[in-house]
Amino acid sequence: MILKKNNKKIAKKKNLSEKKLVKKEKNTPAKNDGEENTISTKGSVRTPALLRGMKDLLPKEEFFWKTLHHTAENLAEAYGFGLINTPILEETALFVRSLGRGTDVVDKEMYSFEDLDGGKICLRPEATASCARAFIVHGMQSLPQPVKFWYYGPMFRHDRPQAGRYRQFTQFGCESFGVHDPVVDAELIAVAYHFLEDLGLKVNVHLNSLGTPEDRQNYLIELTGYLRTKRSYLCEDCKKRLVKNPLRVLDCKNLECKEVLNEAPQIIEWLSESSKSYFMKVLEYLDEINVPYVLQNTLVRGLDYYTDTVFEIYLEEDSEGAQSALCGGGRYNGLVEQLGGRPTPGAGFSIGLERVISVLRKQTDEGTCKIKEVFPSVFFAQLGEQARRRALRLLEVLRKSGIVVAHSFGKSSLKGQMEMADKLKVRYSLILGQKEVQDGTAIIRDMESGIQEIVDQKKLKNALEKKLQPKV
Ligand code: HAM
Repeated sequence: MILKKNNKKIAKKKNLSEKKLVKKEKNTPAKNDGEENTISTKGSVRTPALLRGMKDLLPKEEFFWKTLHHTAENLAEAYGFGLINTPILEETALFVRSLGRGTDVVDKEMYSFEDLDGGKICLRPEATASCARAFIVHGMQSLPQPVKFWYYGPMFRHDRPQAGRYRQFTQFGCESFGVHDPVVDAELIAVAYHFLEDLGLKVNVHLNSLGTPEDRQNYLIELTGYLRTKRSYLCEDCKKRLVKNPLRVLDCKNLECKEVLNEAPQIIEWLSESSKSYFMKVLEYLDEINVPYVLQNTLVRGLDYYTDTVFEIYLEEDSEGAQSALCGGGRYNGLVEQLGGRPTPGAGFSIGLERVISVLRKQTDEGTCKIKEVFPSVFFAQLGEQARRRALRLLEVLRKSGIVVAHSFGKSSLKGQMEMADKLKVRYSLILGQKEVQDGTAIIRDMESGIQEIVDQKKLKNALEKKLQPKV
């Protein structure tokens, strides 16, 4: 009754007849307007929508996610990083103080809200600041330095959703606290580079140095002076940036702004001698370990905490960095102190995994992807209730011995099950019918030759292990 009344009201508001409203609501995908979406009249229930900019990670992408996690874990462990898991909710102040006001992330993209007890909290937009907080609150300054973390998890930014830009996305990142040495910067760049390389991606590291805060201050005076003389050529966003955060003009993608920047003073010329020689050393180490890089004097990164080395990683084919970066990182020597800790240098990177998967998926479609999904090599088909029960038991024996066996208990016809086995491109199918249950046997069918063999169920595991052994 109440629903009917509500519908009348809504129909009036939307200038539709009540009948049309019900039809329209059935046909349009649900928007993110809360619980209202779950109910509609006349017995039909509307499914709550997937929020804009969010993604369900489905089993069809499971292989990519597992491979990425596995690659990240192996690499991070090999380079001596320890896993850190910080909460998804943090005090809003953590990010305002570290990423800085005037940055897009803080000004426009934070999921910040009041907690039930009145505190201002937010969904983390990144994890570097969280790592710095954890470093301070757990007294890690007193541990042997560097303290090295790696993390893997969801971040949240209320960005405008578009290709490669989500509101919830996953980052794999590494952070190193406590040592200010170019070798640390080079090692971090190498880890990020090798992660992408191990996945078969051809990438380039784009590199720059922002020097110390003093270097940057001197440069900012010069840059702002120059940009003011060219103000009328800048896009509307850059006109605002010129007042709020002039460094951000440097990575504007607008063509006219880029032209203005061709003549702009370059930060590298404003670095002190020690910042310059620090940067040179980073380059030398990268040369030493064969990590290719391109110097990019307009690369400034979008967060305020950076000092000295900054870098981003792009696909090799995207030499201008016109598309989205796969990775971003750099040094942040002031961050820990800014958050109330003892002065502690630091550096790190984060890689956006949805962007990496999107490249891998494209490569898979083109047949050029280096990483390949390994399918099960055996399919278990059963016929009849007794065979199904026995199959359940045998499957467990095979699983425990490490043989991955696909099956489809939902399908009852042998034809349907064999079609599935074909689709999965398995090497062998096991077939269990009424007769085999009574005999205590099973049929092993070679899917390529079609040859069938009857095997004692007790010897099934050994027989399969033998058949699946790689041929030498
Ligand atoms: P960031 O450049 O903001 O840096 O993000 C790093 C990476 O996360 C990007 O290169 C991109 O691959 C991915 N990413 C960022 N925003 C989105 C989005 N809306 N949708 C999908 N992917 C996205 C940081 O987050 C710093 N914490 C990096 C760092 C670590 N610096 C030092 N240590």
